[in-house]
Amino acid sequence: MAKNKILIAGNWKMNKTGAEAKALCAEIVAGLAGQDKVDVTVCPTFTALESAASALAGSKVVLGAQNVYVKADGAYTGEISTGMLLAAGCKAVILGHSERRQYFGETDAFINEKALVAVKAGLTPIVCVGETLAEREAGKTLEVVTTQVTGTLKGMTADDAKNLVVAYEPVWAIGTGKVATPAMAQEVHAAIRALLVKQFGAAGNGVRILYGGSMKPDNASELLDQPDIDGGLIGGASLKAKSFLELVTIAQSKGISGHHCCCCR
Ligand code: PGA
Repeated sequence: MAKNKILIAGNWKMNKTGAEAKALCAEIVAGLAGQDKVDVTVCPTFTALESAASALAGSKVVLGAQNVYVKADGAYTGEISTGMLLAAGCKAVILGHSERRQYFGETDAFINEKALVAVKAGLTPIVCVGETLAEREAGKTLEVVTTQVTGTLKGMTADDAKNLVVAYEPVWAIGTGKVATPAMAQEVHAAIRALLVKQFGAAGNGVRILYGGSMKPDNASELLDQPDIDGGLIGGASLKAKSFLELVTIAQSKGISGHHCCCCR
């Protein structure tokens, strides 16, 4: 089966003001110059979404957010709704990032609620899973990832899966410079693929599974060569146009012509 169209998604985390986001988006758009072999998404922080959207207008780069709440509106101080993200120009949202699990107590059940609300609203959830170092060393990687995938995607249908991205991010590789070897990553991606096919049937093959955790221009090629790695969720290397565009160029060189539209799958 042909591999899915590669998606390179930037997770800017708590970095960049509106003005900085606008400048970075402008550089990315200029650097991409109409390429369409690879799908590209950037996920700035909430306060930078609107200025990023204006800089991305007319390009194929998709705007994503880094979190969303499950309610449509109301007394939820500090939270943001799917409607607000859509109005700001978002088409995607990162959910369940390990930093949100670790620092903000997000559980699989809560991430699941968010994922269901996001797909219903027409946002592409980029659902993150991944084991800690202690879990890997205890030989529990596949068990942990299985629990996270089944827990966060509970209740999703094959139809919802058309608008879903999963990111495997080993926690010990995030921001540490320690990258999973291509074989280590592929093993987990293949296990996730099997879970997706079990839940969604053939549609599970079309769900893109991104690798995240210190993916950089010097290690991306081998990772992207793995059969079940459909792209990258990039933290540090997405904060500079040069390294982010280099990653897109590497992905483009894979010459994979998938069947996804530019904005979602
Ligand atoms: P990193 O972050 O590329 O800086 O390791 C990836 C992520 O957390 O999404």
